[in-house]
Amino acid sequence: MTEAEQLLIPILNFLSCETPDSWIDEAKKKENLPIILRDHLACELKAGQTAMYLIRKYAVDKDSTNVLLEWFEPYEDFLYRKKGDLALLANKNNLSKAILPKSSNAQGKSPFSQNLIDKMVLLIKEELHHFYQVLEIMVKRDIPFDGITAGRYAKGMLKHVKTFEPDALVDKLIVGAFIEARSCERFAKLAPHLDDDLNKFYISLLRSEARHYQDYLTLAEQVAGKDINERIAYFAKVEAELISSPDEDFKFHSGSPI
Ligand SMILES: [Fe+2]
Ligand SMILES: [Fe+2]
Repeated sequence: MTEAEQLLIPILNFLSCETPDSWIDEAKKKENLPIILRDHLACELKAGQTAMYLIRKYAVDKDSTNVLLEWFEPYEDFLYRKKGDLALLANKNNLSKAILPKSSNAQGKSPFSQNLIDKMVLLIKEELHHFYQVLEIMVKRDIPFDGITAGRYAKGMLKHVKTFEPDALVDKLIVGAFIEARSCERFAKLAPHLDDDLNKFYISLLRSEARHYQDYLTLAEQVAGKDINERIAYFAKVEAELISSPDEDFKFHSGSPI
């Protein structure tokens, strides 16, 4: 068994359905490569931002919030304000200071803060590195980034997130696990249909995405402090519906193309 196959066992177990062949057929078309790469680029930044919002909202002190915002600025400048380029981003993936948990309040420091920060900071670092790698590939292939709209996928899950704590955080972490797991599954399924360079790159992403999925799940269990299988099953159904139902907006996480 290859390493990729091994990494995929828990992922395929976790997801309720596999990517439909119709999506793969669409994604492997040469003319769709620019949209796949542009959306992939945006997804890497969104993955990092999601993790950043989570630690800002739930775990870090005020100084650390500013350090986090500073870290993202050049990437957001590039994606949203067309400022900067690959060369400028080359050595930007650094934190200027350590990210610290909020000082204790009346209830004391939440027991999961440090773990949430540690896992999310590592995840952000990796997503921003992936962002750089995707951009590098786009530049090499002369594929410009001229904007991309968000698909229905993440929104379609986030609208089911509970509105009270800690359930809201638990749900957000479960949704994070699904997005990472699905990305991992799609990279693996699409890789063999792409040219050598992209094939290698997509396979190289599997290891970190598989770990991200596991980290989100572990955090969700830790924060909940109780069995969350029912909630996981609920989101598995929502996610599978988004992946397998018809979707006219072709994207990296879209449903079955029409
Ligand atoms: Fe990534
Ligand atoms: Fe990831």
